[in-house]
Amino acid sequence: MSHDLFEAAKAAAAFSHSPYSGFPVGAAIRTPDGRIFSGTNVENLAFPQGWCAETSALAQMIMGGAKQVAEIAIFAPKKAACPPCGGCRQKLAEFSNGSAQIHLCDDEGIAQTVTLAELLPMMFRTELK
Ligand code: THU
Repeated sequence: MSHDLFEAAKAAAAFSHSPYSGFPVGAAIRTPDGRIFSGTNVENLAFPQGWCAETSALAQMIMGGAKQVAEIAIFAPKKAACPPCGGCRQKLAEFSNGSAQIHLCDDEGIAQTVTLAELLPMMFRTELK
């Protein structure tokens, strides 16, 4: 069912530009209408300027006119399951109420699925009192 999302994340990782860390990552987002947007990590010689695979996938999603993440698969060939970094959790929270499914993948497919709310409890929101 979500194997296609794993395949898209794996394909994205092959495009990684990660000469400094040697740690490629691919991510693939499915929006509620079923479309898939993928991305990879892009590093830079000025190290802080690089960005994550999830961020690339989110940028693709935005350019597709979508604003909601239903699920996201993350694949790192060198790690059995690669949970999104803190910054990417908050970026995902911009486009999910917390119910987004986060699929952590190994070489075979999805190894573990958690929700964004589980990964980022008490996420920053701006509802005023
Ligand atoms: N990275 C991602 O692309 N996603 C994550 O969730 C964690 C880290 C990238 C950033 C950097 O290019 C490399 O992995 C090593 O940290």
